[in-house]
Amino acid sequence: MNKNELVSRVSAESEIPIKKSQLVVSSIFDNIEETLANGDKVRVLGFGSFEAKERAARVGRNPRTGEILEISSTTVPVFRPGKKLKASIMKYQRRKSGLPKIVAVTSGKGGVGKTNYVINTAIAFAQQGLKTYIIDADLGTANVDVLLGIKAKYTIEHLVNKTNTNIMDVVVDGPGGIKIIAGGSGIQSLTELSESELNRVFDLFEPLENDADVIIIDTGSGISRNVINFLLPADEIVVVVTPEPSSITDAYALIKVLNEKKVKKPVKMVFNMVDDLEEARNVAKRMLEVIGRFLEIKPYPLGYILRDNNVNKAVKIMEPFILAFPGSPASKNLYAISEKLNPKVHNLKDGSTKSFIDEEDKPLGFVAKLKQFFRK
Ligand SMILES: Nc1ncnc2c1ncn2[C@@H]1O[C@H](COP(=O)(O)OP(=O)(O)OP(=O)(O)O)[C@@H](O)[C@H]1O
Ligand SMILES: [Mg+2]
Repeated sequence: MNKNELVSRVSAESEIPIKKSQLVVSSIFDNIEETLANGDKVRVLGFGSFEAKERAARVGRNPRTGEILEISSTTVPVFRPGKKLKASIMKYQRRKSGLPKIVAVTSGKGGVGKTNYVINTAIAFAQQGLKTYIIDADLGTANVDVLLGIKAKYTIEHLVNKTNTNIMDVVVDGPGGIKIIAGGSGIQSLTELSESELNRVFDLFEPLENDADVIIIDTGSGISRNVINFLLPADEIVVVVTPEPSSITDAYALIKVLNEKKVKKPVKMVFNMVDDLEEARNVAKRMLEVIGRFLEIKPYPLGYILRDNNVNKAVKIMEPFILAFPGSPASKNLYAISEKLNPKVHNLKDGSTKSFIDEEDKPLGFVAKLKQFFRK
């Protein structure tokens, strides 16, 4: 990031006009410079401290000739990172090595299949050897536990109300080796929490970071503050959409909000309950075309899941469909998607891999045609 980019960010985040932001940013650096030039320290709690340090005279070597040199004492500016900054860098380091990845799953409209997608993706990850947690943050109608027939003693509600603030007490075992943090239904209070109270709740999740490979958050639908707040800590956002016109327009409205908030993380779309590949492609292409025309954000069309009665059957018997009907069309689609999302296999950036929109468009080569022939 250069200074101009920093100014733009300050301006966007604090709603100060660009010209004034330039003055603010310059003034901060000028003040740091002046303070150091006067031999004083600048301390920013958590971030770090700047100071002018005396470096004693020492003997060095000319790197070119190898000649021994006497280097006289100098005063140099030094930055010492603070606790919070160091922790952030460590987090970055862990993420860089792929762990843990936080995926928020959301939708414009309710009832599009988010919770089913979350549960089954989590199990697919677990089957791929990843330690996977689900956080049910759909606070209006939390139902991950209901869909799985699980009874949780403690839920997010207890974290919020401070009845129990030990996250590990709230974690329950789910099917297929997944771990679940259940949401309490009808927690209105969370929508009313202040930024700092919400951060307190987020801080309680911290121990999961050392344990999980992937954390999937079921955020609920719509563009309420509640949903948006849970999108913010995620590394990537998956928007589930169905071919229904209201689902498409609501998904567009949600993506528009992400665009307005200048969300930088990858946004991916999953097209659920489609009749066939053709329909998935048409909906995806139409949505991407409108998004491309009006918004800066570039969502990645991750995949599609066919409308499949096995999903309804699995819901009725309170089992995840990829465990109850592993060979079903919906399960096959879900495996295809989860493979693309696996943080150990891919670190998919927008558009870095071909999506389902065009990957099957390629004409089959000779060998592929032969293989297809013998498979019949
Ligand atoms: N691929 C699919 N084929 C057929 N039915 C599906 C499919 N995906 C989801 N459904 C059905 O849609 C219904 C809603 O699914 P789900 O609860 O996962 O949606 P949701 O987006 O989490 O809803 P809410 O917004 O209420 O939380 C379920 O009854 C499920 O059976
Ligand atoms: Mg749901």
